[in-house]
Amino acid sequence: MTGSQIKESAAYLQQKLSFAPEIGLVLGSGLGPLANEVENAVRIPYGDIPYFRTSTAPDHAGQFVCGILSGKRVLCMQGRLHGYEGYAPDEIAYPVYVMKQLGVRALVLTNASGGINTGFAVGDFMLITDHINMTGKSPLTGPNDDALGTRFPDMTFAYAPALCTAAREAASVCGVQLHEGVYCGVNGPQFETPAEIRAFRALGADAVGMSTVFEVIAAAHCGLQTAAVAMITNMAAGVLMQPLSGAEVNEIAARRGADFRRLITALVERI
Ligand code: HPA
Repeated sequence: MTGSQIKESAAYLQQKLSFAPEIGLVLGSGLGPLANEVENAVRIPYGDIPYFRTSTAPDHAGQFVCGILSGKRVLCMQGRLHGYEGYAPDEIAYPVYVMKQLGVRALVLTNASGGINTGFAVGDFMLITDHINMTGKSPLTGPNDDALGTRFPDMTFAYAPALCTAAREAASVCGVQLHEGVYCGVNGPQFETPAEIRAFRALGADAVGMSTVFEVIAAAHCGLQTAAVAMITNMAAGVLMQPLSGAEVNEIAARRGADFRRLITALVERI
């Protein structure tokens, strides 16, 4: 991943768009339908963009949907890349740098997560206020491009306090309950063992998922303000002593999708 590749990818997108996007959205598992609410939508498949990798995960369309949401010019990633698909951390983070290059000033990430906090229930939403990266990997491994960001980026405010405030306001206006907590990022694709979940809980995690942390690290690196909201699509392994399935994740995401879309739309309005 080089600065000139990022510029080339951004130039391709720019030439397809009639506006400069201000907010980037990454739509996680089962959350893609939010992109259908974008007005005057222009769709750009990842596969058409120079140097882009494409989504292979189920229900990840693998395209940008660009247009207007809540009166804001947005660039939605309908589908993201995951480590379990075989992508390297810097490949997963690449679109974040491209969005920054395009002039995006804030990033809203969404995902489907397993609930570790026993105070949560399936279908709840959680504002991610911090994370624990359990993947053992970083998108910043290797030589640093100082033009993109500093060698040792600060992660203290990686989940931007002002955007967290905006998310709380959005939830209250929508009448949607929004928990807050720490997200634990893992590689997958297997779900965790009950012992792993007990360990993550002891470490301070409230939810677990297979995405988000690389994108947030990249956003902190390149100085892009980020907010992230998780949908608790299942309780994590061992919490309810019943087997987990990917189908359950998608079913809950579909059932709670309307409230999730209202919440994210209200958040975008406040950015
Ligand atoms: N674990 C990891 N990733 C997930 C889960 C889970 O329980 N649910 C949705 N994504």
